[in-house]
Amino acid sequence: MTAPRDFNAVVTGVEIICPGVLRMGLHAPGFSGTPGQFVEMEPSCGPFPMTRRPFTINRLLPAGLEVVFEVLGRGTGLLAGLKPGDEVRTLGPLGKGWRLTSGRWLLVGGGMGAAGFPFLAGSLFEPPLVLLGASTSKRLLHTGCDQLTITDDGSSGVRGRVTELLARTDPGQFSTIAVCGPLPMLKAVWASVPDQHRRKVQVSTESRMGCGWGVCEGCSIPVPGGGYKKCCTDGPVFTGEELDWERWSE
Ligand SMILES: Cc1cc2nc3c(=O)[nH]c(=O)nc-3n(C[C@H](O)[C@H](O)[C@H](O)COP(=O)(O)OP(=O)(O)OC[C@H]3O[C@@H](n4cnc5c(N)ncnc54)[C@H](O)[C@@H]3O)c2cc1C
Ligand code: FES
Repeated sequence: MTAPRDFNAVVTGVEIICPGVLRMGLHAPGFSGTPGQFVEMEPSCGPFPMTRRPFTINRLLPAGLEVVFEVLGRGTGLLAGLKPGDEVRTLGPLGKGWRLTSGRWLLVGGGMGAAGFPFLAGSLFEPPLVLLGASTSKRLLHTGCDQLTITDDGSSGVRGRVTELLARTDPGQFSTIAVCGPLPMLKAVWASVPDQHRRKVQVSTESRMGCGWGVCEGCSIPVPGGGYKKCCTDGPVFTGEELDWERWSE
């Protein structure tokens, strides 16, 4: 695994891919990482620096990477204002990513949870099937894979939740079920995977992060037995069985 480093990445491009969602190219020669790992980007280097914000690696480039992010609050708002040529303090690659097992994978994503799927899909042994849910069709990310989509408002043709797509899919055809999205969606997916297939589930978790490298303990996620693991260094990817689904809340 590549050791993380702290560097100035140079913004190469910012593209709006759907309302409020940006793809940002970062020039960072020598940067490497594995699918599911993330970087922490500092929104401001001014007199009042902000905590860095974590983003999954969307794609590796020959001399850098791309991230895809939704503009939600102050940090992502400042990052969205960066222009090509601007520098952004970046730390990474961080965390432990997907365990890349053989066989065909089923990727289940909700909203921005699909941001890391292009990198993951391109690293698998067989092309995966992607099940993707979003609030509306304008927020469905394109993963470049075979993709079945569903939206809360029916604007992509089918109205409903991603668990409905999962219910129409035979988990027996897949070696691994990779899930990423908001916590209520992760819980609904876990609850709907039949018991005999739960050992195949890997989950990319999200938590509010401080340091991103294991020091502040701000990103704890409950695990069975009453303990906690750190999203930033033990994860963000865990097997479904490593998590205490009952105790885990936002
Ligand atoms: C490992 C990891 C990878 C991530 N990858 C991506 C990605 O690829 N693309 C992407 O769009 N987002 C990703 N996120 C979430 C992203 O980091 C947050 O949306 C971002 O930090 C918000 O910063 P802000 O200052 O704009 O928002 P804030 O002002 O801090 O908060 C605005 C709103 O966003 C919510 N929020 C903030 N941080 C998180 C978080 N970590 N998880 C869920 N909700 C949050 C807050 O509850 C609040 O409602 C990732 C988070 C983690 C932990
Ligand atoms: S974010 Fe600081 S320990 Fe995980």
